[in-house]
Amino acid sequence: MDLFKLPFNKKNRKAESSLQHKDQGRIPNHVAIIMDGNGRWAQKRGLPRVAGHKEGMDNIKKVVRKANQFGIEVLTIYAFSTENWKRPTDEIEYLLKLPIDFLQHYLPELMDRNVKIQTIGEVNALPQRTKDAIKRAVDQTTHNTGLVLNIAINYGSRHEMIHSVKQICQGVIDGAYSVDDINEDMLNDYLFTADLGDPDLIIRTSGELRLSNFLLWQAAYSELWFTDILWPDFDGEQFEKAIYDFQRRKRRYGGV
Ligand code: IPE
Ligand code: IPE
Ligand code: MG
Repeated sequence: MDLFKLPFNKKNRKAESSLQHKDQGRIPNHVAIIMDGNGRWAQKRGLPRVAGHKEGMDNIKKVVRKANQFGIEVLTIYAFSTENWKRPTDEIEYLLKLPIDFLQHYLPELMDRNVKIQTIGEVNALPQRTKDAIKRAVDQTTHNTGLVLNIAINYGSRHEMIHSVKQICQGVIDGAYSVDDINEDMLNDYLFTADLGDPDLIIRTSGELRLSNFLLWQAAYSELWFTDILWPDFDGEQFEKAIYDFQRRKRRYGGV
């Protein structure tokens, strides 16, 4: 049963009533999340770090539901950074297997919710089975018209910018344009996020106050929202809180 398709369902009343508080006109189009704190969540329970990653993966479902309910257009989730290769091999292996599990289990629900899967990052460098699972999910959801669930995997903002600059240089070498033609739009158009737009809101869990090489160019005017809550404990209610806080922010973009 899909609660969110049944607005008058009794069980759904609580969710509906909390939604009345939202300012419909100020729902962020694009929310990006740095899902941090899985390791500490596990450590606190005397469990191996990977148990935290497993719990963190399950948690994505809750946030996808809430994003769908709010009518957010794009939800970007930071799953694995270009710097995460510095971790122990077994943890890397586990982290890179998680998308296989996630997509296998949740694909029917994602289809049901009309969610479209996309990725940003160097997917080609991932293990073959992970690439296959991602490709299957992207292909299967390609015609869905609802929320875009954009998975940042093997993603690093500096790597992405270098990629864009290389494309621009090639264009100059090929004579497609001159150095003087290079502008912000051009650099933006070669980023992996070109068709997604900049995040309006970036959420980071676990109390760390940094971006860790996430969407650095795109975050120029993003609203930042931090919480001490560890990612596996972050729930729909927390997500709502972030959205309501966002609605109270005054975005000036350098103006008055
Ligand atoms: C976030 O949790 C998941 C990834 C970085 C892939 P961490 O694994 O970074 O958890 P902490 O920060 O060590 O608690
Ligand atoms: C950021 O978390 C990367 C992801 C959530 C995938 P990290 O745990 O890797 O960030 P640092 O090392 O604390 O900056
Ligand atoms: Mg971390």
